Amino acid sequence: MPGSLNCPAVPTAISFARGAPCPEALSGDLIATCTAAALAADATRVLSYGTGQGYPPLREVLAHEHGVSSDQVFVTNGSLQGYVFLLETLLSPGDLIAVEAPTYDRALLQLRLHGMQVLPVGVQTDGLDIDALAAACAAGRVPKLLYTIPNFQNPSGATLSAEKRTALLELVDRYGFWVLEDDPYGKLRFEGDAITGLFAAHQGDKVMFTSSFSKTVAPGLRVGYIVAPKDVAATLAAAASRTYISPSLLAEAAIAHLVTGGYLPGNIAHVTDLMRERRDAMVDGLVHMPAGTVCAPPQGGFFMWLELPEGLSADGLFDQAAAAGIAYVKGSDCVLDGGERTLRLAYSGVSPAEIAEGMLRLGAVFRAAAV
Ligand SMILES: Cc1ncc(COP(=O)(O)O)c(C=O)c1O
Repeated sequence: MPGSLNCPAVPTAISFARGAPCPEALSGDLIATCTAAALAADATRVLSYGTGQGYPPLREVLAHEHGVSSDQVFVTNGSLQGYVFLLETLLSPGDLIAVEAPTYDRALLQLRLHGMQVLPVGVQTDGLDIDALAAACAAGRVPKLLYTIPNFQNPSGATLSAEKRTALLELVDRYGFWVLEDDPYGKLRFEGDAITGLFAAHQGDKVMFTSSFSKTVAPGLRVGYIVAPKDVAATLAAAASRTYISPSLLAEAAIAHLVTGGYLPGNIAHVTDLMRERRDAMVDGLVHMPAGTVCAPPQGGFFMWLELPEGLSADGLFDQAAAAGIAYVKGSDCVLDGGERTLRLAYSGVSPAEIAEGMLRLGAVFRAAAV
């Protein structure tokens, strides 16, 4: 008889850990149409080795979007790969790199693996603490590069205000550091008006831009890109060429067709609707969290950031949450030091029903520890 062995029921796993789109966001039919169109139009080039820069028609499309020439566009196998090439070519071990604290855990890990010195700069509800960065610069700690995620930041969900963007670009003009603006989530806005990006607003060549089709189309395609000054883009392409010869051209050609065929806005609207519904379900689930939990729900993107009340440790409760079937990212993985009371919850990959159930279970674990 089922249950007669008295085994404890294993709760179904619900992962709030992965910053990936939910299955409903992955439009297989659309990708099939675009892949078929890519092959019908350009099979020989798509199925041959290309160059390290990426598929030329996609570079043209992206150059047009960003108002640059195509030799400034470097398309790579996911944007994380482009970021790693940038660390390996533009920067040297020991360079001082400013990052938001907290920041994207893999970006931080790569800085550590490449022997960079990290300058952590706090994040407020309106994004990076510009005054703290200005103070560091004034004290002689001028970074070589600032890595920043201005829209619906991973992991905090915060968006850099228009005023702070202006102030940041003034600091760039004054101190001459590079900026890498990483913006994979900006087009997934649930409410409010879009704010002009740093690259778009900057008058000069110090700001580089990177983004990805992983969040707006499909991470499995592995298509990301960097827009940089020509010499930097050429250096990055050389690094790609000696590493993997050329990126996956079929995936890039499918994306090029998706954009030129006019399908991208509809796909983004579809993904945005799915994500808004999930964000709302997670906001509803906050009622289960212990009193004193702090959270500023995001206006877009994939993530919510929680700070637990004094006395509770998200690090310490990680295994208990896992035993209840819930996974999250520890905030401490997203900072150099500390962060034990914080955690990142991704609502992106699960259904609203799973979010409701997951928040109930997670809240029960945290509340039980709070008494
Ligand atoms: C801020 C940020 N940048 C880059 C990436 C990596 O994206 P890709 O799949 O293009 O490598 C992610 C993925 O989570 C991310 O959150």
